[in-house]
Amino acid sequence: MTTRLLLSGGRGLIGSALSRYLASQAIATDLQYLSRAADVDGALTVRWDPVTGYIDADGLEGFDAVIHLAGETIASRWSKARKTRIRDSRVGGTALLAQALAKCARPPKTLICASAIGYYGDRGDEIVDEESAAGAGFLAEVVRDWEGAAAAALAAGIRVVHLRFGLVLSSSGGALTSMLLPFKLGLGGPLGSGRQYVSWVTLGDVVAVIDHVLAHDTIAGAVNVTTSAAVTQAEFARTLGRTLHRPSILPLPGWAVRLLLGEMGEELLLASTRVHPGQLLASGYTFQQQDLSAALTHLLTVPRESI
Ligand SMILES: NC(=O)c1ccc[n+]([C@@H]2O[C@H](COP(=O)([O-])OP(=O)(O)OC[C@H]3O[C@@H](n4cnc5c(N)ncnc54)[C@H](OP(=O)(O)O)[C@@H]3O)[C@@H](O)[C@H]2O)c1
Repeated sequence: MTTRLLLSGGRGLIGSALSRYLASQAIATDLQYLSRAADVDGALTVRWDPVTGYIDADGLEGFDAVIHLAGETIASRWSKARKTRIRDSRVGGTALLAQALAKCARPPKTLICASAIGYYGDRGDEIVDEESAAGAGFLAEVVRDWEGAAAAALAAGIRVVHLRFGLVLSSSGGALTSMLLPFKLGLGGPLGSGRQYVSWVTLGDVVAVIDHVLAHDTIAGAVNVTTSAAVTQAEFARTLGRTLHRPSILPLPGWAVRLLLGEMGEELLLASTRVHPGQLLASGYTFQQQDLSAALTHLLTVPRESI
């Protein structure tokens, strides 16, 4: 039997890897895209526009699951206008989608939404899991409201899963590719104190986790998507330098990070979040990559990931 999936954010880092993965599987999947664009890689889309509140309600009928990854990028300096777009694209977009799905005559069984470990805020050495309370700050508030925005789907009996992604490592985009140039030039090193924890996961594991969650009906609610092998930022920089055979000793003090990147630098680069993937481990998921050095070697020696 063909599984019908609807994917938002399908042109993004995670969405395009997921599309490639599904296309490579033997099990037949009818994958359609929910997008602001008329087509994604030549395939016609179900249209929506979270800014104007438009969604093609008829186009949402009859899917087995909806995977919702869309959101304005957070990886740039946060102006007031960008903060509004970061928030509205996630909170407004998720509410629009969840309300429309709840009204479907043939709603999906499952709604999987992207979320982020930014939920926990800056927690020092504390190990946080899905039971931990939300933290403070712009990102933590956005993520809390982003997850809350799926309430209509939950109330309609749809299984809702919030994938709290950590730092997704990939050779095809995202944070790791932005770090490569300074490290290759020998300009990499610890940021701020370097003692802040970085909770990471490879893109290959992210895709495998989505597959695992689709296959396991008992998984619901918040799911941390990071390995349990968080490292300090100084250790991360050392390991990346070693993998590239480059020195990684040039520190960038916290004040310089704040000056260059403002609030975004403070919350994304200087905050410490040490996350335990409790739900995934309890549901029997085994991470493909759990050692940072091995993961970076794999990512940086294969020219492009196979998924
Ligand atoms: N990558 C990470 O390290 C990471 C970590 C934590 C959380 N996450 C979250 O996981 C999700 C997917 O991540 P990603 O790295 O794949 O993201 P991405 O590469 O930035 O792609 C996001 C997708 O969202 C859609 N989009 C962008 N701006 C939008 C807007 N203003 N309104 C509505 N849709 C918009 C776009 O799809 P269309 O153009 O087709 O509409 C885009 O392809 C995001 O919500 C992100 O915050 C990612």
